[in-house]
Amino acid sequence: MVYQVYPRSFADSDGDGIGDIPGITSRLDHLAALGVDAVWLSPVYVSPHVDNGYDIADYQAIDPVFGTLEDLDALIAAMHERGMRLVMDLVVNHTSDEHPWFVASRDPANPKRSWYFWRPGRPDPDGGPGATLPPNNWSSVFLGSAWEQDAGGSYYLHSFAAKQPDLNWGEPAVREAIYSMMRWWLDRGVDGFRMDVINLISKPEGLPDAPGGPTAGNQLEMVVGDPGLHTYLAEMRREVFDRYPDRTFLTVGEMLAVTPEQAVLVTDPERRELDMVFQFEHVDVDHGQLGKYDPQPLDLRDLKASLARWQVALAERGWNSLYFNNHDQPRAISRWGDTSQYWRESATLLAGVLHMHRGTPFVYQGEEIGMTNYPFARIEEYRDIEAARAYEVATALGLPSELILGTMAKMSRDNARTPMQWDGEAHAGFTTGQPWLPVHLNHLWLNVADQVEDADSVLSFYKRLIALRKSEDVLTTGTFTLLEPDHKQLWAFLRADERDRLLVLANFSDDELGIPDGDAFTGLDGGRLLLGNYPDGGAPGPLRPWEFRAVYL
Ligand code: GLC
Repeated sequence: MVYQVYPRSFADSDGDGIGDIPGITSRLDHLAALGVDAVWLSPVYVSPHVDNGYDIADYQAIDPVFGTLEDLDALIAAMHERGMRLVMDLVVNHTSDEHPWFVASRDPANPKRSWYFWRPGRPDPDGGPGATLPPNNWSSVFLGSAWEQDAGGSYYLHSFAAKQPDLNWGEPAVREAIYSMMRWWLDRGVDGFRMDVINLISKPEGLPDAPGGPTAGNQLEMVVGDPGLHTYLAEMRREVFDRYPDRTFLTVGEMLAVTPEQAVLVTDPERRELDMVFQFEHVDVDHGQLGKYDPQPLDLRDLKASLARWQVALAERGWNSLYFNNHDQPRAISRWGDTSQYWRESATLLAGVLHMHRGTPFVYQGEEIGMTNYPFARIEEYRDIEAARAYEVATALGLPSELILGTMAKMSRDNARTPMQWDGEAHAGFTTGQPWLPVHLNHLWLNVADQVEDADSVLSFYKRLIALRKSEDVLTTGTFTLLEPDHKQLWAFLRADERDRLLVLANFSDDELGIPDGDAFTGLDGGRLLLGNYPDGGAPGPLRPWEFRAVYL
């Protein structure tokens, strides 16, 4: 089980309002008590923080806002003492434009020119003499053209913000520099990497136009699935991880728009690429035609079908990661649960359902206590560059501000980034200073301190759930069968091996729900309850609102 720490928002040790590495070290007992095996730490490297550290200006130094290399060494040591491992974020599709490599590459005569995608513009038939258009029609994932023009007239490619230029992996010197940087971290004791948008590193020859119009991130269609990815990942395996035959590592690659077929290729152990991928299909099921800022009510059938599709596709070869939350997603409980009347039940139901699938579960900070979206109301409250870009573009299109802000409040990434709620005191115990993002008012009752003592809390449920993943073999290796795929409120599936049959049931609604007739459910009443999210366990009979039950048949 892997726990994601978003360092800006986890724990602040020096009162500057921004979380830091000593803050994380001071909170390790919370993670150990939860049963965490490994921590994925979002970027802590030197950065101008245009994208909160996903724009790196020095891969081998810690940003002073987060601490020092010595602080990181101390964190690694303290984690290893507790039997936990540290997985760092590897952001190598792009650097910051303030990285010395990119600064050097601005000079056409510098050997680092080829480390990035510098291209001349296309003649602009409607412009004046010498006017140019970007080299192709790709648009950034953060909206607008994926090309930025430099003072010299040339353009460089940025799949994300203009301050995040894409590295050219086709250049062998780039790959060598990255592999050597990775080894430097492994030598320091780091136990693996989560690889940011790693399936974008191999671009198609000639960077051809994307079909259709310039919709956000249209280049994904051209880049995702490029076969060069597998060559690079296999090379990375040989040049980095294989150099340490006596150690084991964890690798997980974030892959936009990846298909199950591609994920099998990447995670098949025999092909020696990565352990897991983070895919997006299930967190995109409620996106409308215009993408994430066009959220639609969830149709549970789509969510179940998506997870089931990946369970089946990776059953024989490869391995799934399991997540509902991370630093890029709104809080799942606010998105798909009921935070008013059934907050505790829906938080635990979502946890139970996810962790009973096959794969490695990832828990994002605050999820283990049921943290919710923040009630953002004004544009000034946001810090995320993606939110700022979306607001700018939507306003330019003439959309009414209330509409834009209403949508952003539901979907913005800043929802996941408000400070961790440690206690009911000032600033939720996150900082003694002014927090960089507002603390949710519900920290008064929704916080770690209150939940530690309460056997029925969301936190206690997560602890039980995580312990079960280690004691129940059927959860690790059992087969997966989705039941009642067309049911709109019931999420039901079976995990089975030669010895056990575990039935998982979840009522995604505020209403009582009868258990369907059917062979799959016989034996339920006489079964042994493994875990339920109502304090009295799983009484026989209908499922209560947002009830979760896992029962050995
Ligand atoms: C990944 C990160 C996200 C970041 C983007 C660009 O999707 O998770 O936070 O903005 O890559 O690095």
